[in-house]
Amino acid sequence: MCGIVGYVGPATDGTALDVVMEGLARLEYRGYDSAGIAVIDGDHVAFRKRSGKLVNLRDEITGRPLSATTTAIGHTRWATHGGPTDDNAHPHLGGPEGRLALIHNGIIENFHSLKTELLAQGVTFASETDTEVAAHLVAAAYERTHDLTAAMLATVARLHGAFTLLAIHADQPGVVVGARRNSPLVVGLGDGANYLGSDVAAFIGHTREAMELGQDQIVTITPDSVSVIGFDGTPAQGRRYHVDWDAAAAEKGGYPSFMAKEIDEQPHAVADTLLGRTKDDGELVLDELRVSEDALRAVDKIIIVACGTAAYAGMVAKYAIEHWTRIPCEVELAHEFRYRDPVVNGTTLVVSVSQSGETMDTLMAVKHANELGALTVSICNTHGSTIPRESDAVLYTHAGPEIAVASTKAFLAQITACYLLGLYLAQLRGGTAADEAQAVMRELREVPDKIQTVLDRMDRVREIARFMADSRSVLFLGRHVGFPVALEGALKLKELAYIHAEGFAAGELKHGPIALIEPGQPVFVIVPGPDTPHDLHAKVVSNIQEIRARGARTLVVAQDGDEAVVPFADEVIRVPRTPPLLQPLLTVVPLQVFACQLATAKGLDVDQPRNLAKSVTVE
Ligand code: M6R
Repeated sequence: MCGIVGYVGPATDGTALDVVMEGLARLEYRGYDSAGIAVIDGDHVAFRKRSGKLVNLRDEITGRPLSATTTAIGHTRWATHGGPTDDNAHPHLGGPEGRLALIHNGIIENFHSLKTELLAQGVTFASETDTEVAAHLVAAAYERTHDLTAAMLATVARLHGAFTLLAIHADQPGVVVGARRNSPLVVGLGDGANYLGSDVAAFIGHTREAMELGQDQIVTITPDSVSVIGFDGTPAQGRRYHVDWDAAAAEKGGYPSFMAKEIDEQPHAVADTLLGRTKDDGELVLDELRVSEDALRAVDKIIIVACGTAAYAGMVAKYAIEHWTRIPCEVELAHEFRYRDPVVNGTTLVVSVSQSGETMDTLMAVKHANELGALTVSICNTHGSTIPRESDAVLYTHAGPEIAVASTKAFLAQITACYLLGLYLAQLRGGTAADEAQAVMRELREVPDKIQTVLDRMDRVREIARFMADSRSVLFLGRHVGFPVALEGALKLKELAYIHAEGFAAGELKHGPIALIEPGQPVFVIVPGPDTPHDLHAKVVSNIQEIRARGARTLVVAQDGDEAVVPFADEVIRVPRTPPLLQPLLTVVPLQVFACQLATAKGLDVDQPRNLAKSVTVE
């Protein structure tokens, strides 16, 4: 959700403002309904904040410049408590003359009782946020301790919920203190300067050396030092790591949007996720999992937990994993899994799928699975994030940074990584399953080139999208692995173009949804390849005929050489031939391009759709 940046640099340097503004620009995808910055200016704290996108804050600073400084914190907000107004924007001030500034990501669940207590003490509030409570508490603790780290330590003991907090105090220039509980915060390690950020994008333009923090830890940075303690006050260590991508990867590189760039990066996302995970003879090696083969062999049930697009990746994987391993596999929205009473024990493998590794609903599901004794594996795209840390093992996708709010390349990389896990389990089981695993790996290695072929053919899809910019509703039908693809196509259109879109299992059509079909209703149909078992191809072709007979405009995604669809299609969008279980890696691409182009044609910001944030770090 919110984006957080902190910086301390050399005493002679005045770049803190620039560094933090640059970091905010890179983190704006995390939340963009208001933004603010606070700096230590001589003997006081100065701040600027504005509702709306970051450009409003920039204009404000141009009109009312801030002094050069060495210490700054900045925030881009996704509103939870209190609307997106100037007053509710962060930072929030506390203490006499507002000598403390604080920014926050997350939700302080007991803010109401704390606020009542502070009001009774005569504290006045300038906003409707939960954050301001923390600002007043840290400021009051500072008056007692005269040490910002000690003040933060005293405050976190009183807070319930999930939070990342950063604070500066006018009495301690050259110091930024951060705290985290169930909310992201990483440290950037510079040379004579140090950084804090919600993710490494905050400081990737300055350093690729980072430090991961654990849960319930407080970090204090100065230009020359980084020290970490637990919420119990005992010293702690962060884990250092090198970020394997650079600032260029987090820039648009000539594309009109991050989404357009990320769609085009999909062949690499899949290829890189496959890279280094097989021996020359095709045997899969997932040593990085660090789970004993015996523990994996004992698995008798798999539950995939995830949200949104990641859950659709899980739905695709279910078909493949059950087919290859014969282990029952369920897919559940993480927030539903967490608060029912799932049947989970020591032989259950709970696989979480998350691009950001910070989705709170998924994190809570993983923690619950751990409590129930399950083996937990995270499929994740973000090193140093929370969900892999909370899991027994992790299999990273290597999609590179995904900045656009709408997930695209992460979806393909997630399916790929889930498949690797499924094939690895099949390999461990031996026999025909192991032989099939090797054959599938050979096919998978051809997929990146096939995705490129799909991308090279997208001109007509863009044209169709432009023609359809005024559509009020678009339906998507799919069957087997094409069903989650239909759901994903509809989600992309909803979140980017704000039009009614729904995905259906094609077999479900006659059980209700066919009533929606009226003359001119556009329907995308994802057609399984003609070699899909159980005559599914013929069944879906029949569905196309049924909706066309009722006036639907049919936009058919079909394999090269599939002529059976032609008589019933208003448009045929071709993808290369590939085995049934791998088809989603190709068929989803035209749907992503369609949504991106239609939203662009409507003049919408595809990278930052309304009301959304990239990483949903509240429940
Ligand atoms: O970071 P995660 O993969 O855990 O995020 C899960 C969903 O919030 C995410 O996929 C969301 O649905 C996307 N905006 C869809 O494009």
